[in-house]
Amino acid sequence: MTIRLGDIAPDFTQDSSEGIINFYDFLGDSWGILFSHPADYTPVCTTELGFTAKLKDEFSKRGVKAIALSVDDVESHKGWIQDINTTQNTTVNFPIIADQDRKVSTLYDFIHPNASETLTVRSLVIIDPNKKVRLIITYPASTGRNFHEILRVVDSLQLTDNHKVATPANWQHGDEVVIVPSLKDEEEIKQRFPKGYKTVTPYLRLTPQPETK
Ligand code: BEZ
Repeated sequence: MTIRLGDIAPDFTQDSSEGIINFYDFLGDSWGILFSHPADYTPVCTTELGFTAKLKDEFSKRGVKAIALSVDDVESHKGWIQDINTTQNTTVNFPIIADQDRKVSTLYDFIHPNASETLTVRSLVIIDPNKKVRLIITYPASTGRNFHEILRVVDSLQLTDNHKVATPANWQHGDEVVIVPSLKDEEEIKQRFPKGYKTVTPYLRLTPQPETK
C-alpha cells in the first residue's frame, strides 16, 4: 500500500519489545513518529535508536511518541536493546515493533523490493493527533537519519498548524517565518502579526516567529 501526505495513518496491532501494541491506543492524542530500520544488531541503526532515546525530553516537550520497527523478532529486539543501552550510554524508552510477518511494513510501504526483498528501508512517518500523515522520508540503509531534522519538522508543523505562516529554507525554531501567500488582507495581517512584517516581494513576506502555544 502506498501512503501519501494527508492520508489517515493505518492502524495495526503487532507484537513489540514492550508487548502487543495497538498503534492508535499507543498514540492516544499525541503526535507520533513511526520509523523503520533495516535490521537489529547493525551499526547505523544502533546509533539511530540510541540517539532517539536520548531525545526523549525533546519529544515529550512536543507531545510526540516514538516507535521503531524492523522485521526481527521480539527476542532479537530485547537483546539488541541491551547493546544499544550499553554502547550508546542511554536507555531505550520506546517500543520496537517486531514485524516478522511484515504486516506493518506492507501497510506503510517500508519494504522497497529493489533495495531489499525482505528488509525494511530506513523510512520515517510523522503522524499528527488526528492520525494524519504529515511527513514521509526514506533514507538508504547506509545513511543514518538526522533526528534534529525530525524535531525541526515537528516544530514547523506545530507552528504552521496554529498560525498562517510557513517556515523557509533551513528555518530553526525562533527564526523569522513567512506569511502564507493566501493571506492578503492588510488589516488581518497587522492583527495576526503585531510584531510587524517586511515585504520582500508581494509573495515573500517575513515576520518574527509568532508565539507558540
Ligand atoms: C546499519 O544499520 O548499520 C546498516 C543496516 C543495513 C545495511 C547497512 C548498514
